[in-house]
Amino acid sequence: MTLAQTVSIPVELIDRLRIAQRVVALTGAGISAESGIPTFRDAMTGLWARFRPEELATPEAFLHDPKLVWDWYASRRSRVEAAEPNAGHRALVELESRIPDFLLVTQNVDGLHARAGSRRLAELHGNIMRTKCFDCERVPDDAKRRVDAVPPRCTHCGGRLRPDVVWFGEMLPADALGEAVRATAECQVFLSVGTSTVVEPAASLPFSALRAGAVVVEVNPDPTPLTGHATFSLRGPAASVLPPLVAAAFPAGG
Ligand code: OAD
Repeated sequence: MTLAQTVSIPVELIDRLRIAQRVVALTGAGISAESGIPTFRDAMTGLWARFRPEELATPEAFLHDPKLVWDWYASRRSRVEAAEPNAGHRALVELESRIPDFLLVTQNVDGLHARAGSRRLAELHGNIMRTKCFDCERVPDDAKRRVDAVPPRCTHCGGRLRPDVVWFGEMLPADALGEAVRATAECQVFLSVGTSTVVEPAASLPFSALRAGAVVVEVNPDPTPLTGHATFSLRGPAASVLPPLVAAAFPAGG
């Protein structure tokens, strides 16, 4: 028997999703696990096994050893480039097409939601495929970027380029966070998919939704700090759980 068959979807949840006008989905690294991208709190593999993400994903780490941090992100970028969106990403695209007011809030920097076809997206932690200048924060003109240095240098001010992602200790993009907070306060159903629910401020969103009276659904093979509070906890991988959930609420051709 596959995991998909073992996760039963409560009828009450199907009904609530079917009639919902406003839905928010929050995703984390777990939704991309089945696309072959390791989650943050999985052990790192290969060359990087001796580092912890928290030690590399900071401005201080970049200042201390810019080449090490650039190379780590370059290795993650190559993995992302080789990956394809999976059935979990695609189920959220289908859900967006069925819900009048749908927002996808993601902590992922891999861009797989956009590649799957999701349209209304709040990327809370940036996007690994973009770079910006560490000093002047301008996004470089790729065509003119000098690649002789690692990290490459900014064509405007000569500063070092860095990935356009949010590092520990940095502010989240205000627009994306504001949109996520507003939509969370107003949604009727909130899905929390593939996140360990430990990194703020994203970790607070499902709890805000609960306080505002939304139905909160967690999709995760393992328990998190949200599990005991969620209205429904669907224990399984996103690519196996999301497609039957969306299909049950919105049968094809229905
Ligand atoms: P984590 O690595 O902390 O958590 C991944 C979650 O996905 C865990 O709860 C797993 O149980 C779950 N999981 C694993 N496989 C899954 C699958 N196939 N389907 C569904 N769930 C699965 O990743 P995040 O919660 O995204 O921030 O981490 C949040 C933030 O911490 C990241 O955005 C990053 C990191 O430090 C920054 O870099 C700022």
